[in-house]
Amino acid sequence: MVDGKRLWRRLSELAEIGKQESGGVTRLSLTKVERAAKDLVASFMEEAGLEVREDAAGNLFGRREGKDPGAQAVLVGSHLDSVYEGGNFDGPLGVLAGVEVAQTMEEGGVETIRPVEVVAFTDEEGTRFSFGMIGSRALAGTLSEEDLQHEDEDGISIADAMRHYGLDPERIEEAARPRDSLAAYLELHVEQGRVLQNEDLPVGVVTGIAAPVWRRLVFTGETGHAGTTPMKLRRDALAAAAEVAAVVEDEALATGTSVGTVGQLSLEPGGINIIPGRVELSLDLRDIDEGTRDLIEDRILERARALCEGRGVGLETEVLQRMTPISCSETVRGAVRAACEGLDLGTYDLASGAAHDGMQLVGLCPVGMIFVRSKGGVSHNPDEWSSKEDCMAGANVLYHATLDLASRHS
Ligand code: GLV
Ligand code: MN
Ligand code: MN
Repeated sequence: MVDGKRLWRRLSELAEIGKQESGGVTRLSLTKVERAAKDLVASFMEEAGLEVREDAAGNLFGRREGKDPGAQAVLVGSHLDSVYEGGNFDGPLGVLAGVEVAQTMEEGGVETIRPVEVVAFTDEEGTRFSFGMIGSRALAGTLSEEDLQHEDEDGISIADAMRHYGLDPERIEEAARPRDSLAAYLELHVEQGRVLQNEDLPVGVVTGIAAPVWRRLVFTGETGHAGTTPMKLRRDALAAAAEVAAVVEDEALATGTSVGTVGQLSLEPGGINIIPGRVELSLDLRDIDEGTRDLIEDRILERARALCEGRGVGLETEVLQRMTPISCSETVRGAVRAACEGLDLGTYDLASGAAHDGMQLVGLCPVGMIFVRSKGGVSHNPDEWSSKEDCMAGANVLYHATLDLASRHS
């Protein structure tokens, strides 16, 4: 059994890094704040007796050798970056539970055949650059030079941010792990939804992960005098954008499964008595079924173009990132299910509405996830909460599933 007190203490300590007045954290990738979080976790990895290193993408690893050092490793972990005013569990729980699993093995003198590696991925959330999963894409060898050109709101590209951080973007491909070098990737994460709470269960077995497409839409109208321009003669960029936001809600609702969000909106010039001439908004569309998601994406864009045309407003759009939904590996799910059964926790299957690093790794190795009950399903919010007991239950499932996977011969 893992040391739940130690896990909780480390979670609380990590929550101090990037802490906001709201009680949540803002810990953007490739910043000093994220660096401090990685340094603290590296110190925990050292306490756990792990061999610590960082790769060319800034992914932090702690490795515990198995009896066969040449065997494929079992990788466990998550991320340390957050959204603006994010919660204290989204990411950190999976990383710290991974450290706890390895430390419990170390303290118990447990020998595994395969090595166990704990990872803290660089930038899962995509908050800073509107493009995420940088570390896991690099691990999978799919991060392109073009991807590194995504910029933050100050115009700093991922490549430049890497340089400031002490990383060399020219060497990013060195972070790629050879295909089949990993036996499995298993991530413990908070559910961020209400399913487990409704089922009165502490943990669940993840079946698959829904995937987002992120777009930016730019509306160009005409600025003008708010007092003298008759309503019929206006080309109001915000009025067009507002209609499109309503279309997003309408189309997503109509499917019954998809979710659509406009999370960012900016307008220019931004005067109380000026008709907005330029508006930028973000679009986040998701579904576990890619076809459904892409269909409503097309419908939204079609309706947006038509309504902009009717208003004499220009519309330009670009894709920021497009992910593919995944199914979790039967092998990994089996190990998680057996761990849940062994701990008398029930085996409840559920899909993930949130995106996770494992989505980037499916070409590399079998991927699975364990969810821990989230209080009220609240996440990407300072009030995100999972109880100490539930976190410990999840970490114990991670321990037994990892032990099982790491005890197998390649
Ligand atoms: C990350 O948490 C996401 O699902 O956007
Ligand atoms: Mn997360
Ligand atoms: Mn998140």
